[in-house]
Amino acid sequence: MKAVRYHAFGEPDVMRYEDVDRPAPGPGQVLVKVASTSFNPADAGLRVGGAQELFPVELPHIPGVDLAGTIVELGSGVNSHAVGDRVIGYIPLTSPGAAAEYVVAPAEVLTAAPTAVLLSDGAALPVAALTARQALFEHGGLKAGQRVLVNGAGGGVGTMVVQLAKRAGAVVIATASPRSASVVKNFGADQIIDYTVAPVHEAIVDPVDLVINNVAAAPEEIDRLTPLIIDGGVGVSVPHITVKGDDARNVNWHLMGVRSDATQLAELVALVDQGALKLDITGRFPLTETARVHANAQAGKVRGKVLLLP
Ligand SMILES: NC(=O)c1ccc[n+]([C@@H]2O[C@H](COP(=O)([O-])OP(=O)(O)OC[C@H]3O[C@@H](n4cnc5c(N)ncnc54)[C@H](OP(=O)(O)O)[C@@H]3O)[C@@H](O)[C@H]2O)c1
Repeated sequence: MKAVRYHAFGEPDVMRYEDVDRPAPGPGQVLVKVASTSFNPADAGLRVGGAQELFPVELPHIPGVDLAGTIVELGSGVNSHAVGDRVIGYIPLTSPGAAAEYVVAPAEVLTAAPTAVLLSDGAALPVAALTARQALFEHGGLKAGQRVLVNGAGGGVGTMVVQLAKRAGAVVIATASPRSASVVKNFGADQIIDYTVAPVHEAIVDPVDLVINNVAAAPEEIDRLTPLIIDGGVGVSVPHITVKGDDARNVNWHLMGVRSDATQLAELVALVDQGALKLDITGRFPLTETARVHANAQAGKVRGKVLLLP
């Protein structure tokens, strides 16, 4: 089969489109014919070798942790799925990924793909939506009526955070530059702060109950968001940044690592099928263009979700 692989860590041009043996599913796994994967910043982090301590990948490595496709073979012991099922999932970060014609995935991380959108569009959902859901409700404890600041609302995660927070009855304040402002507004943000004009900590007047930070900025930049949070409130940093809380006011920041969760993903799929959760797909490229997509992301030219298709 064809796959994208890198044999050494480095810049986007380490990625090669090449022939690779088609994998076979082991116990509890399935073989999926890939319809698409999507770019996530984590793919770039793994590619440069910066995450080897936490998430060691073996070289050569096939990137791509978001998956949409059709099951073509079952490993032993798999009863939850059948050949022909159209599925999506967040597959393990360190396993061979979905930037390939076929990928082996644990059956337990897969759920039925949305039916209201193209199968290939389903790969825009797993990582971004699971991260948003877990950030807001598991780490942030969001409740209806609360004010939430979504810092970095224009990205894959941010657009999901805005929609899920609004749906949960929150007042949503979002930072976005002009290229993302209308999408973020349409997804339900009550107030948009153009971070290219004014720093967010200067633009917010009334405090918020919760901050979801999606921006991988210097920690001291994100520290400036702490005074915006009410006493007893919470901050959640989606990028791995240790942010200073305020003990005197009982304001704490949580770090998170998104977890694959097929039950939660099924709920998010249902929202997509009801039209209650929109996918912000901004590009669809063949796998042969993977290096270009990584280079564009590195240059800050990517917003929303970009799909890669075999
Ligand atoms: N902990 C976890 O498990 C986990 C899971 C998923 C993602 N992440 C991390 O979370 C971060 C967000 O992921 P993502 O997929 O949403 O990334 P993304 O799609 O690449 O986000 C890009 C967006 O970031 C916005 N942005 C950049 N600089 C900004 C700034 N100074 N202020 C406000 N917005 C800014 C831009 O918005 P505009 O278009 O408005 O300019 C851009 O659209 C990444 O660092 C990723 O690695 C962590």
